[in-house]
Amino acid sequence: EAQNERESLLIALGFARDFFVKNLQTPEGKSIGLSYFKERGFTPAIIEKFDLGYALEGWDNLLQGAKSAGFREDILLKAGLILQKEGDATRVYDRFRNRVIFPIHNISGKPLGFGARILTKDKNQPKYINSPETPVYHKSDVLYGMFQAKKAIREKDNCYLVEGYTDVVSLHLSGIENVVASSGTSLTDGQIKLIKRFTDQVTVLYDGDAAGIKASLRGIDLLLEGGLNVKAVVFPDGEDPDSYSRKVGSQAFQDYLENNSRDFIGFKIGLYKEEFVKNPIRKAEVIREVVQSIGKIPDPIIRSVYAKEASGLLGIEEDIIHAELNKTLLKSQ
Ligand code: UTP
Ligand code: MN
Ligand code: MN
Ligand code: MN
Ligand code: MN
Repeated sequence: EAQNERESLLIALGFARDFFVKNLQTPEGKSIGLSYFKERGFTPAIIEKFDLGYALEGWDNLLQGAKSAGFREDILLKAGLILQKEGDATRVYDRFRNRVIFPIHNISGKPLGFGARILTKDKNQPKYINSPETPVYHKSDVLYGMFQAKKAIREKDNCYLVEGYTDVVSLHLSGIENVVASSGTSLTDGQIKLIKRFTDQVTVLYDGDAAGIKASLRGIDLLLEGGLNVKAVVFPDGEDPDSYSRKVGSQAFQDYLENNSRDFIGFKIGLYKEEFVKNPIRKAEVIREVVQSIGKIPDPIIRSVYAKEASGLLGIEEDIIHAELNKTLLKSQ
């Protein structure tokens, strides 16, 4: 029974993907959705690769289309495609309206849910509306772009981790296919396990703003705890991988990644360097921060390799690093 329901939901979600994809070729879809994608530099080939689509204006386009195709309302509801009206559960309407659509695939390419971007600069509405948790879509086990990335992640033995849907698409346009998005939320154990099926190396490419840097620091510690090797790149203020790759072009973007990938110690030191050359107390804080991250690493041999590196980079005796490390390790037991 549960298996049957899952199957029904997946079929409904597949129908919705096809529906949104077809909408993009209608006159409304072309003049609004397709031209939006074009403006962002998305090519027909990339639109096809990611099954990008368009949700028409109006309250029940998908609902009516799906009902005509024989789908039951309760299935559409459970799939997160429609919503019940507040105060009147007998009235239902489309969740995604007048937005461009990014299907969120499982690793075999089946859509489990959707992210839908607004087309205007209206600050009163959320920029993205996403599918809710459903019996088939467990957000904590999914990474956007994994279906399109998994082969390249294995081949390159590295996974770029970005924040957003459009960052994933843009990196593909720049010739980088080993990329997935955390979709603006904190990484989970399930997502880290998913990456580990394909590689042990992650390079974090979060947005170059205060929120992105904060999220990088948190993400780095979670990835280290999961036993992954972690690098990170900082983008110029206000840029994300999408905006920056379009600004400088594919080749310069690839060069930037190559020249600015730092392991987590170099990343942390880089963030605070200007402050701590002037302020020794600040330097002590950075040392403690670096040590705290090293303490997350499960493998003691790798921990001691990084302790040595930290000692060199920070100009602090290794013994002191180890003493501090032992303190953090005791605390976390
Ligand atoms: P950003 O605000 O950085 O958006 O959020 P973006 O991906 O750069 O999108 P563009 O370039 O403005 O179109 C990063 C990610 O956080 C999630 C989305 O997954 C988004 O891609 N997010 C953001 C939401 O789910 N809802 C929101 O309202 C905003
Ligand atoms: Mn492995
Ligand atoms: Mn951001
Ligand atoms: Mn962004
Ligand atoms: Mn962006």
